[in-house]
Amino acid sequence: MAVIAVVGGQWGDEGKGKIVDQLAGSAQVVIRAHGGDNAGHTVVNAQGKFALHLVPAGIFNPQALCIIGAGVALNPASLLQELDVLHQRGVSTRNLLISERAHLVMPYHLILDAAEERRRGAQSIGTTRRGIGPTYVDKSSRIGLRAGDLLDPQGFRERVRRVVEQKNALLHALYGLEPLDAERIAGESLELAQPLLPHIQAVEAVIHEALDSGKTILMEGANGTLLDLDHGTYPYVTTSSPTVAGMCLGAGIGPRHITHALGVFKAYCTRVGAGPMPTELFDEVGEALRREGHEFGTTTGRPRRCGWFDAVASRHSMRVNGFDSVALTRLDILSSVEALRICVAYELDGARVEHMPASAEALARCRPVYEAVEGWSTPLTGLRSWRHLPVQAQRYVRRIETLLGAPVGLIGVGENRDETIFTDRSLADLCALAVS
Ligand code: GDP
Ligand code: IMO
Ligand code: MG
Repeated sequence: MAVIAVVGGQWGDEGKGKIVDQLAGSAQVVIRAHGGDNAGHTVVNAQGKFALHLVPAGIFNPQALCIIGAGVALNPASLLQELDVLHQRGVSTRNLLISERAHLVMPYHLILDAAEERRRGAQSIGTTRRGIGPTYVDKSSRIGLRAGDLLDPQGFRERVRRVVEQKNALLHALYGLEPLDAERIAGESLELAQPLLPHIQAVEAVIHEALDSGKTILMEGANGTLLDLDHGTYPYVTTSSPTVAGMCLGAGIGPRHITHALGVFKAYCTRVGAGPMPTELFDEVGEALRREGHEFGTTTGRPRRCGWFDAVASRHSMRVNGFDSVALTRLDILSSVEALRICVAYELDGARVEHMPASAEALARCRPVYEAVEGWSTPLTGLRSWRHLPVQAQRYVRRIETLLGAPVGLIGVGENRDETIFTDRSLADLCALAVS
């Protein structure tokens, strides 16, 4: 039995989807526990290339149960679109379950997300405009609609009526927008969600049966730790908890069940949206990383900001998650850069600091202190074992292990499912995969 949490260590897009797809070959249950369709998880396997947003990346293993957990912000229209694409391409979604506790992203959440971003002006967060923030706000305000509410149309209509009354007052007073028609929203939402109803269940029983019978469970993190509401670069963050602890909350699994917490880190850094990023590169190296790495958002298509590996921010992430091991992805992309750098500390107002400040303003003033690392110019994508990696690439990985204080158990050398080198027994054994 194993319960493995796969969690992003940076600002998202670390390659979680690829890893979950790969590990899911040995899992019986795969759970998305938080976030919503702000996530874009790319999977490239024998069935083709897919961009998943809400469906767990375990969906390509027909033996695995895939669960959208209680902590997820679920947009039914977006999920239905995703299911359509999967069906058209021959992927079965028979094994998809949706927690009745998952909160629904409603049409007014999308309007509020866009209106609030406009109102922030130059201070906008650069959200994905998927209504994620307003959905979690309503959850905390205890006025959210949940997937299970769709099973009681009368109650659903009444709740929508009450909430829309409140939203209309807000839309008018704060944003000068036209009122919404509650009856129409309720009616359209109920009709649209019909195909999802058979998937909506009390998933706790299924998850706990899986735990009791010793099955292998994967928890698929979305977003990334540096976007965490508590521990990220606030206020430039998302509105859920993309940490190992957040996975436990959102899936409804007690922390003592976790057997392995896997932190996923890119071999360099990227960020989409606004907010401080001390190692961001504005020169041709940043451009090369974006070009070679096709660094454009899976969900919004926005260019990702690229920079050197930031060991200060990553150590922060290691601490708040307590990762057992690290998956270092996209090492192959660094073959396109001759001389590498790793940020080992910051200089803040003339002093050296080794921790990430909590204030976004202070973080924006941090200047990276770099260590030069020799690059390698040979492609890595065809390589499948540690001993075949160029010695410079091995040194780069070892340096990151030392800086983070955890073993790198998996190295990504390409986008395809099998373009991976497993280097640590503890993770490989859990998934019955070979160490190379
Ligand atoms: P996620 O949100 O963490 O699942 O990551 P995304 O899918 O948004 O972005 C990661 C991108 O890198 C995707 O295009 C993946 O197909 C790709 N990818 C993942 N691991 C590797 C790797 O090791 N090498 C290369 N070249 N691409 C990778
Ligand atoms: P995956 O799962 C990258 C970022 C947005 C924005 C901030 C808040 O693919 O790694 P939100 O719409 O959540 O209110 O936006 O968070 N963001 C992501 N960036 N990858 C993601 O998910 C992200 N999810 C949210 O760009 O800066
Ligand atoms: Mg992504």
